[in-house]
This record gives sequence, structure tokens and C-alpha cells, in this order.
Amino acid sequence: MQESILGSAEENATPDSITLDLFVTGRLMAKKLRSPTAAALVEGALDRRPVSGLTHNYYRYPARFSPAFARACIETYTRPGQVVLDPFMGGGTTVIEAMVLGRRAIGSDINSLGVFIARVKVSPLSRSERAAVTRWADLVVPSIRCSDAAPLTGRIPRNMTMPEARWLRKTISLLLSSLDRKLASDRSRSFARCVVLNVGQWALNGRRRIPTAAEFRERISIQACDMLSGVAELEEAIVAVSGGTHRPILRQNDAESLHLDKTIRRAGPADLVVTSPPYPGIHMLYHRWQVDGRKETDAPYWIAAQNDGLGSTYYNFADRRKAAEDRYFRKAKAAFSSIRSVMRHGAVLAQFIAFSDPARQLKRYLSMMKRAGFVECRGKYERRTWRDVPSRRWHASLQGDTSSSREVVLVHRAT
Ligand SMILES: C[S@@+](CC[C@H](N)C(=O)[O-])C[C@H]1O[C@@H](n2cnc3c(N)ncnc32)[C@H](O)[C@@H]1O
Repeated sequence: MQESILGSAEENATPDSITLDLFVTGRLMAKKLRSPTAAALVEGALDRRPVSGLTHNYYRYPARFSPAFARACIETYTRPGQVVLDPFMGGGTTVIEAMVLGRRAIGSDINSLGVFIARVKVSPLSRSERAAVTRWADLVVPSIRCSDAAPLTGRIPRNMTMPEARWLRKTISLLLSSLDRKLASDRSRSFARCVVLNVGQWALNGRRRIPTAAEFRERISIQACDMLSGVAELEEAIVAVSGGTHRPILRQNDAESLHLDKTIRRAGPADLVVTSPPYPGIHMLYHRWQVDGRKETDAPYWIAAQNDGLGSTYYNFADRRKAAEDRYFRKAKAAFSSIRSVMRHGAVLAQFIAFSDPARQLKRYLSMMKRAGFVECRGKYERRTWRDVPSRRWHASLQGDTSSSREVVLVHRAT
């Protein structure tokens, strides 16, 4: 018999059909469900407040989920000291929430950019490192002029050649070369790099008008100040909960080889997985910004000083054409089998997943999860929690408007 995790919703009971599944009805629905566990999870999943607090806003990682969702899962399924894993951690939302709840956090992702961002987000800074970053933001940044004679260092990111972005390229380049001169520790340099990454994303990604030099520099100072408050808040929270002793483990891995990672094996087995994998038929730009119309630039890797992967297929399991769906499901099966092997028997795996064509792909996805060693936790008449994803910039295999793509929460147990 299937175990019920999201509680009963008999008032809406219907046969199992995704078209009749629980659609977004906001908090009201969470309250209607009887079990408090169900209410917390549904409320977390449907949370639409802007992401805020701690270090969550260091970067707007594509398709990041709400910290409230990660928090609800962690509080529901684990106790302090237990191991929480996110094998597709992106910008590290799960890892941060696990840390501040006193759990042992493990995060992994194939994307070096995600690992860089997550590492900065979980790294406290000493008082002297904070002071050095403040000096850099308040004194060095305002003094940088793109008319400086200093030569450009490093490679030029792709598609950053349009005339209005030239000064920005130069400003960023000068800012990056100031880091080695002005900041003594690796942590403070990475932190400042992440400030530039955040403001670079704001200035370039999908922007019609590229901001002026003065606007860019001013934003750097504001952002550095915000991020310093975030890191102070994080540090206070982790000291309060665990004395600051649980350092998270962050790794760069293809999820299908997680079981080969000795560090992860030693730290496990995981008592809970909270995650959000790549989506079938949907192509997310985890690795690019769009400039000058829809041209893609690898500028984030340039700023973060990280190696780029091998194109969008590398970060999405497969490309978004329907013909590539078999590859998607092969990759997903290999990844979830590997994830299963680093989990405790009976541990929960909660995931957010979107589909370009839910009516067709959900069934196949559930069958893939079963073959990978999981059983869904859902009563016979119990509905899954779905939500619309309005205004998300993604590219699906469907023709035309994809603004109605939908996400669902799936809860499984490792068998
Ligand atoms: C939906 S995002 C996760 C976002 C994350 N929950 C957050 O809040 O930031 C999916 C992630 O899966 C990663 N990914 C894609 N293919 C992967 C693979 N084969 N192994 C590990 N990670 C992969 C992508 O790089 C991306 O960061």
C-alpha cells in the first residue's frame, strides 16, 4: 500500500489524473488539508514571496525554488544532525536552509558556476574580511574609471562586443583585477567576485538598456552592503543552531556518478534529499546570460573565474526537442539510481519538477523514478501539488507561448 505524505484531500477526491490534480489555489488549499505536515509542505511549495533573507539573494540562479519549500521539507522529514542532500543544488537553496536548521548539508551540481555561488553563500567572513570587502566596495569601486589606461585582462566573453557593453566589459575587467591587489584572502576575493556577478547579471541579463558606469558602480556598493548583512545573518543563525560546527560539503559532480564520490559516501547516507533536477522538454539557461536581444554570453564564467561546461545539453540532461526525450529519461534514470545509492533505506526524496507536456511526461517520469528505486508517497485519492510558472523565461519543446508550463512536487521514498 502506498504511504500518504501529503495527507488526505477527500473533499476533492477524484481518480488519479493529472488534469484533476490539485492546481494552484494558494494557502487556502494548504489550510484545507487535514494533516499539519501536508499543510506545511503545500504552503512551502506554493510560496510566492520574493526570495529574501540569509544569503539567498547573492545570485538569481535560474529555476531556484523557494527557501520555504526546502525548509518545510527539512523540518518535516529530518531531525537536527541528520544528513540532507541536494544533488542538483544550483545556487544552494537547500544547503543554506539545511545549515540554519542544524542539519548536515551536502550539495552537488554539475555546474561549476552553481558550485562557486553556493560556496560563497555558505562561507562566513571574518571581521577583517568583512572590513576589507567594505573598503573595496566603498573606496576602490567608485575610483575605477573605464577610461583608465590599464589593459584588459583575460579573455573576452562571447557576444559582449556590442558598443554599449564595451565600457561595462572594461569596468568589470578592472574590478576583477582590483581583487587580487586589494583583498588578501580567497574567501573575500570570491565574495567580491560574487558581488560583481550579481551586479553583472542585473546590468546585462535580458536588459534592454545597459546601465551607465555610475549606476553600475553605485549598485556594486549597495549590493556588497546587502550581501555583508546576509552573511552576518547566516553566521548568527548557524552559530545559534549548531555552534557553527556543521560545515556543508559542496561538490561538483554529474549526479549519475554521485555514488563514486568518496567524500559524499563518507558523509552519508542521506536521510533526506530535497532537490529540483533539469526538466524534460525545457531548456533552462543555467549557464548563460542573454544580451543584445537573445544572444547568449558566457560572461558569468568569466566573472566567476570558472570553467564552462559543454553547452546547454550538458546542463539540461538533453536538448529540448521531443526527439531528445529518450536521452533525457536515460540520464534521469542513471542520476536517480546513483542518488538512491547514497540514501538511507526509507529516506524521503522531495522534488520540484516541471514538464513541457505534463500529460505525457509525468507518467514516464514516475516510471523512471520507480525503476531508479523509489516509491511515490501518495494515497490513492490524494492529489499532487501543482503550480503554474508564470513569466519564467524558459524555452520548451512546445510551440508558441510556454508561459503556462507547470511545476509539481513529487515525494518519494527510497526502497
Ligand atoms: C532546477 S536547477 C536547481 C535549482 C536549485 N534548486 C536552486 O534553488 O538554486 C537544476 C540544476 O541541475 C543541474 N544539473 C543539470 N544536469 C546535471 C547533472 N547531470 N548532474 C548534476 N547536476 C545537474 C543544473 O546545473 C542546475 O543547477
